[in-house]
Amino acid sequence: MPRWSPLLALVLACASSSEAARPDAATTAARGVSTPTAARTAAACAPPNASLYDRLGQRAGIDAVMHTFVVNVGRDTRVNVRFLFTDMDVLQAHLTDQVCSASGGPCAYAGRAMKPLHAPMHVRGPEFDAMAEDMVAALKANGVPERESKELLAIVGSTRDDIVETEAK
Ligand code: HEM
Repeated sequence: MPRWSPLLALVLACASSSEAARPDAATTAARGVSTPTAARTAAACAPPNASLYDRLGQRAGIDAVMHTFVVNVGRDTRVNVRFLFTDMDVLQAHLTDQVCSASGGPCAYAGRAMKPLHAPMHVRGPEFDAMAEDMVAALKANGVPERESKELLAIVGSTRDDIVETEAK
């Protein structure tokens, strides 16, 4: 294998980055096919001073992560009973808009404010932490690099005080 092949791979991946921005990219990766996901490719191709929104692969890259996240939450027996009556497609769209807007993207979040929405649910700290773990798993499944994962998790973490009512188990 010639020494320049990683560079060639990066150039090819950057050239095809719009094709990589598909919500099913993580599923493809999980099957073992080495398709670059939107966020991994965007992070590699965007200049280091680009906004988090650009480094995550813009709205399509963020939506792919949020799709995996809501699937993970739906399977997570620590919290999924909370979402029995929730339209998970609508939840995914709101989360995508929220993260898109908070990461420097041109989206408007039209969902409800975090505090009044979650207050009647009496959310416990361990439930929030369970969902943070579901987000970490979603970021990993989508190949989001460490720098971008940390920044996105900081955005999610900044909502904790508005969502959690009690640290009780
Ligand atoms: C991890 C951080 C969290 C974020 C960023 C977040 C954000 C959101 C957003 C954007 C929505 C949709 C708003 C709307 O429909 O107008 C939502 C809905 C919801 N959240 Fe959270 N949430 C978080 C954690 C939690 C936790 C820990 C619970 C409970 C265990 C929870 C329970 C719910 C439920 C049940 C809904 C749906 C309400 C409905 O169907 O009307 N969330 N959340």
